[in-house]
Amino acid sequence: EKGNHRHFMQKEIYEQPEVVGRTLSAYVNAVSGRVRPREGVDFSKMTRLHIIGCGTASYAGQIAEYWFEGIAGLPVKVDIASEFRYRNPAFLEGDAALFISQSGETADTLEALRLCKAAGIVTIALVNSPHSSMAREADIVAPTLAGPEIGVASTKAFTCQLSALAALVVLAGAQRGRLSAEEQAGHIANLMAVPSLMAAALKVEQAIDRLASELAQASIVLYLGRNEFFPLALEGALKLKEISYIHAEGYAAGELKHGPIALIEDDVAVIVIAPHDALFAKTRSSIQEVRARGARVIAITDRPGADELDGETSAQLLLPRLTGMAAPIVSAVAVQLLAYYVAVHKGTDVDQPRNLAKSVTVE
Ligand code: F6R
Repeated sequence: EKGNHRHFMQKEIYEQPEVVGRTLSAYVNAVSGRVRPREGVDFSKMTRLHIIGCGTASYAGQIAEYWFEGIAGLPVKVDIASEFRYRNPAFLEGDAALFISQSGETADTLEALRLCKAAGIVTIALVNSPHSSMAREADIVAPTLAGPEIGVASTKAFTCQLSALAALVVLAGAQRGRLSAEEQAGHIANLMAVPSLMAAALKVEQAIDRLASELAQASIVLYLGRNEFFPLALEGALKLKEISYIHAEGYAAGELKHGPIALIEDDVAVIVIAPHDALFAKTRSSIQEVRARGARVIAITDRPGADELDGETSAQLLLPRLTGMAAPIVSAVAVQLLAYYVAVHKGTDVDQPRNLAKSVTVE
């Protein structure tokens, strides 16, 4: 049931503080400040982790790649399932594979899992549907507790995937001797704050609602970000194209000069995910470049970022100040709401966008 919400997608966006909290509780022992070990998961012996999924799930994997490598020192290779399964992948001693899927039934992801099992690789399924094929067939199941997701465009499943992945990163850092007890507790505290930060982030709704009518006129929308905000830019663009049918692309901000800047003209809107972090100055210069060429720039940022960008953007969407792994998880709320309100403004069928199915069980 949609309750007070107009669409399932809106309801599912608003459920995120609750379901992310529930998912984190399944992984974290809040009293000890540790992530509970998962039977069969030993990150200490892994040489490399393959992360495989489709669409939004693969973007969750791309965000986790920054975390596993940067925080736990674990080399990661992310693949789109449909590419992985047909490219005759090469394996190393000590490889493991993690499959991310809301449904647990996506045909390409399931076949990639079967390929890894046949190759003798340890398989972990990060799935939202506990009775799905992937949950049955993988060696190890890592659950997300998002509850049923009805809207075709994935929202709460994505942030629950990120939250579970972040917890696994802390476990990996502990098992690999990369994180002291104090550092683990720091990451856990950062993650346990996600539900309340998300609730605060949902307040950008009003500002987004005001922007939607203008954005709905854009011929192209580019999303830019750096580090973990690059895959989040990909996710923002996917969400917008899925439900509003506006052509949107996500790029790493540093790639702008290598091609996409040629697209910039008056009716192009650029959404820049620009938290005030270590790379802010670089992201700011990307903003200046696209603005100088006539694009309408909307920054998703925080108070310090907004102060520095004053006068350099057409609009700003203010999120709470975010750090650590919480930052991309909480920021996801802004790109979801943006896509949602543009679609509502355009009058599209938000929960059942044309040509799309909730679960892609055929190739
Ligand atoms: C995007 C979306 C799709 C799915 C993809 C994978 O909003 O919903 O890109 O993320 O089809 O589906 P699952 O996670 O069920 O394997």
